[in-house]
Amino acid sequence: MASFHVVALLSAYLLVLYSLLASGDLCSEAPCQNGGSCRGDNTTFVCHCAGCFIGTYCEFDPCTEFSDFCENDGICQYDSQTCETACHCKNGTTGHSCDENDPCADAPCRNGGTCNTVNGTHFHCKCPTCYGGQLCDADPCLSDGETCNDHGHCIFNVNGICQNVACECDNGWGGNFCDDQVSTIATTMQTGSTTVLSTTTTLDPCSMYNCQHNGTCVADGSSYTCKCVTPYAGINCENAMCYPDPKIILTANGTWQTLSTTRYPLYINGLNCLWTIRAPPGQTVEIVVSNVTLVGSTIGTFAVLDPLANNASLFSTQETNRTTNDVKTSNTLASIFFDTHANSSGNFFLQYRSVYTDPCAGYSCGSNGTCIANGNAPECHCNPCYSGAKCDIPKKDPCANSVCGAHGTCAYDQATCSNPYCNCNGGYTGPFCSNPPLP
Ligand SMILES: *[C@@H]1O[C@H](CO)[C@@H](O)[C@H](O)[C@H]1NC(C)=O
Ligand SMILES: *[C@@H]1O[C@H](CO)[C@@H](O)[C@H](O)[C@H]1NC(C)=O
Ligand SMILES: *[C@@H]1O[C@H](CO)[C@@H](O)[C@H](O)[C@H]1NC(C)=O
Ligand SMILES: *[C@@H]1O[C@H](CO)[C@@H](O)[C@H](O)[C@H]1NC(C)=O
Ligand SMILES: *[C@@H]1O[C@H](CO)[C@@H](O)[C@H](O)[C@H]1NC(C)=O
Ligand SMILES: *[C@@H]1O[C@H](CO)[C@@H](O)[C@H](O)[C@H]1NC(C)=O
Ligand SMILES: *[C@@H]1O[C@H](CO)[C@@H](O)[C@H](O)[C@H]1NC(C)=O
Ligand SMILES: *[C@@H]1O[C@H](CO)[C@@H](O)[C@H](O)[C@H]1NC(C)=O
Ligand SMILES: *[C@@H]1O[C@H](CO)[C@@H](O)[C@H](O)[C@H]1NC(C)=O
Ligand SMILES: *[C@@H]1O[C@H](CO)[C@@H](O)[C@H](O)[C@H]1NC(C)=O
Repeated sequence: MASFHVVALLSAYLLVLYSLLASGDLCSEAPCQNGGSCRGDNTTFVCHCAGCFIGTYCEFDPCTEFSDFCENDGICQYDSQTCETACHCKNGTTGHSCDENDPCADAPCRNGGTCNTVNGTHFHCKCPTCYGGQLCDADPCLSDGETCNDHGHCIFNVNGICQNVACECDNGWGGNFCDDQVSTIATTMQTGSTTVLSTTTTLDPCSMYNCQHNGTCVADGSSYTCKCVTPYAGINCENAMCYPDPKIILTANGTWQTLSTTRYPLYINGLNCLWTIRAPPGQTVEIVVSNVTLVGSTIGTFAVLDPLANNASLFSTQETNRTTNDVKTSNTLASIFFDTHANSSGNFFLQYRSVYTDPCAGYSCGSNGTCIANGNAPECHCNPCYSGAKCDIPKKDPCANSVCGAHGTCAYDQATCSNPYCNCNGGYTGPFCSNPPLP
């Protein structure tokens, strides 16, 4: 850990007056080191030091000058701009001058956690996904007390969902909690009169374990892998995941598109899925919820939310069978929230599209303004002499205090509703039409 020590340098370079008794131009012997420049004559010379160097001959830098500053073999370095020194401490030490023990030195963070020193003497662990605790030594399996009978390890991170999911058993062990010893079949072979136990054959693990939900089992020695069919995941394809992946923002366009889910059986209690549909700027999302099916002992929730309005609910149902609802949003985003809830399951089918609804339709800016859409909002653009959100506030007439007299009429710049001027008649001239015509 580097730390900085401010060296009180009075100046970037130090002037040193130096007298010698010798004759001849003393600077000709180039006494100034490290890029310092010399000025002098045959009795004196002065070194103007470059950068952070100091000393009569510019022979010191901040680290050599303070060579004993860094303790415990720490290495001193300095910043060539500010001339501040810093100690790069060796293993196990930290602090401004490497005089403190580094609390991260003995790697206190478990499971790949990153140790950061706090205040020099304390540490903080930044834990990887699914690990917690001050030392990153807690995980969902530990908090569930799942040991897999010491014949396997507990899986708790499936696609970032941190939950005790299953036991992955060591070779020779099986069962949900690795408490079944995998049987072996001993085959005997007759060689002459001696019976020898010659081979042991491990049973095909795929014959003992079922990948659920039509997952395909692939044997690998005595272990197996399930290749799951969406939306299932997990060691045995036992978990339903949100599908299609809700992290993908669905883009609506003018044509109807479909978002539907297969049936979600509930293995992960309270599996919540949230999809976001985005319309192009200036357009809004329209959703037709064709059918929502929710079944189970406790019924979940299906909802259309407006994420741009604090998740205001535009449509929500907890009915077991709900059909045909047209939800027109007023924003460019809409969210579909689907919570199958504990011990229930469900599916939905909906169609969405983006629609352009002219926000000026049915919106009046009166007779002195024009409505122009600003995204999804109507906006009145007023004629120059009117103002206000509805263009109903007249501005002051620029000719109200006309000085054009009897021989002129007042006019003004129509584009800005300002700059009044006089149009003279009867031969009168001048800015105020006050000069009579020449005879
Ligand atoms: C340098 O030294 C010489 C002889 O020693 C002397 O004559 C001269 O005045 C000196 N020059 C200066 C600038 O002091
Ligand atoms: C510093 O400590 C780490 C971990 O203890 C070790 O891997 C590394 O070799 C040490 N480095 C030095 C320079 O002692
Ligand atoms: C750590 O730093 C904070 C803020 O600078 C301070 O309040 C606290 O007393 C420090 N703790 C220790 C143990 O030095
Ligand atoms: C498995 O596939 C069969 C045939 O495609 C299908 O009838 C069945 O519903 C599927 N089962 C599950 C749990 O998806
Ligand atoms: C709208 O998006 C769908 C799906 O991405 C695409 O098939 C279709 O061609 C798009 N239609 C238009 C008009 O862009
Ligand atoms: C849901 O609605 C769509 C469109 O109307 C239809 O094709 C589909 O069969 C319906 N699904 C169920 C389960 O009712
Ligand atoms: C809307 O709900 C989602 C999901 O619960 C949440 O991530 C998001 O922060 C919410 N937004 C607002 C504005 O409350
Ligand atoms: C919901 O709809 C499904 C499919 O149409 C039907 O089998 C089921 O009986 C309905 N449930 C209720 C409670 O109406
Ligand atoms: C879900 O089912 C389990 C087992 O039947 C039961 O223990 C649990 O209380 C149920 N949870 C809810 C929220 O109904
Ligand atoms: C629009 O302008 C005309 C002419 O200046 C004026 O008579 C009328 O009152 C204005 N309308 C509104 C709604 O202000």
